[in-house]
Amino acid sequence: MNNKSPPKTIATINFKGGVGKTTITWCLGDLISTHGNSNTLLFDLDAQMSLTQAITLNEDGSLYRKFSDWHERSEKKGKTIFKAIEAYTGAGAFDFGVNYDFIYQITDRYHFIPSAEDLYWLELDVFDRQKMQGFIRELLGKITWSKNVPDYNYALFDCPPSFTLLSYSILSVCDLILIPVNPDFYAVKGVPLILNTLQLRIEPFPIPKIAVFMNKAKPYGGTMTKESQFYWNQVKSICAHAAKKSGLKVKCLDTPIYERVALKRAVTTGGVPAEFVPDFKRLWSGVTEFLND
Ligand SMILES: Nc1ncnc2c1ncn2[C@@H]1O[C@H](COP(=O)(O)OP(=O)(O)O)[C@@H](O)[C@H]1O
Ligand SMILES: [Mg+2]
Repeated sequence: MNNKSPPKTIATINFKGGVGKTTITWCLGDLISTHGNSNTLLFDLDAQMSLTQAITLNEDGSLYRKFSDWHERSEKKGKTIFKAIEAYTGAGAFDFGVNYDFIYQITDRYHFIPSAEDLYWLELDVFDRQKMQGFIRELLGKITWSKNVPDYNYALFDCPPSFTLLSYSILSVCDLILIPVNPDFYAVKGVPLILNTLQLRIEPFPIPKIAVFMNKAKPYGGTMTKESQFYWNQVKSICAHAAKKSGLKVKCLDTPIYERVALKRAVTTGGVPAEFVPDFKRLWSGVTEFLND
């Protein structure tokens, strides 16, 4: 077989914590695997392990704690993302088999690579910083060619809220960067910082397409409040300016996700609540349209 292609890769980033990176990435993964029949691989790359903990919480109280047991076994076997980094950056060939002891099956189509606490120390442990840039590319190659796991249509990355060696590695290979912003002053001020940093850090590698959208928009009569609209307009003008000045491919998606209590619990209660599926579908169509543009 020589017709295998790697998954389309999307990294959710923002240097600000709490904007909804984890929630949105999780919900999009659920949407496209459950409602869109796409094989989806979700990476939790945040050392704070929010997703990994949420999935554990999800299963607490059930008779068979599937994920926790699996996670314990895979840690014992050394099949964690951190061990993969060690194998990759160490001397010699990148010897790390990809199987279901490394990838967890949430559902038939939704698969997951958990985070590891050791990622906190990555910056201190990895000496070959230059080599680290190729890590995600090589790992995705291994996943694509592994006969043990399916062909994934999409790989989604929940990134840490800082520019780590690992985010560096993701951002230099991914097809699209997804930036959630919130309707507040600080979130708006953070946008130029991200755009500038991306350009400074990733070049001379090609800079991925960048899609920006508003999460936690305040709802008002089927649309957003004037205040949320005000911040969104500011984000749009900052992005338009950056695109013009630096040639970045930035698109602002007019498909907000509203602030809703049910979404707050989406990660620990399963997936996208039924009533919000249409909003996520609209966001996803904007993303894929831009991705395939
Ligand atoms: N659209 C939303 N509506 C309500 N609560 C949300 C929404 N998006 C995120 N949250 C909540 O905001 C908090 C931060 O979200 P999270 O996804 O963990 O952000 P990040 O990963 O960027 O740090 C969490 O408590 C989450 O449940
Ligand atoms: Mg998070």
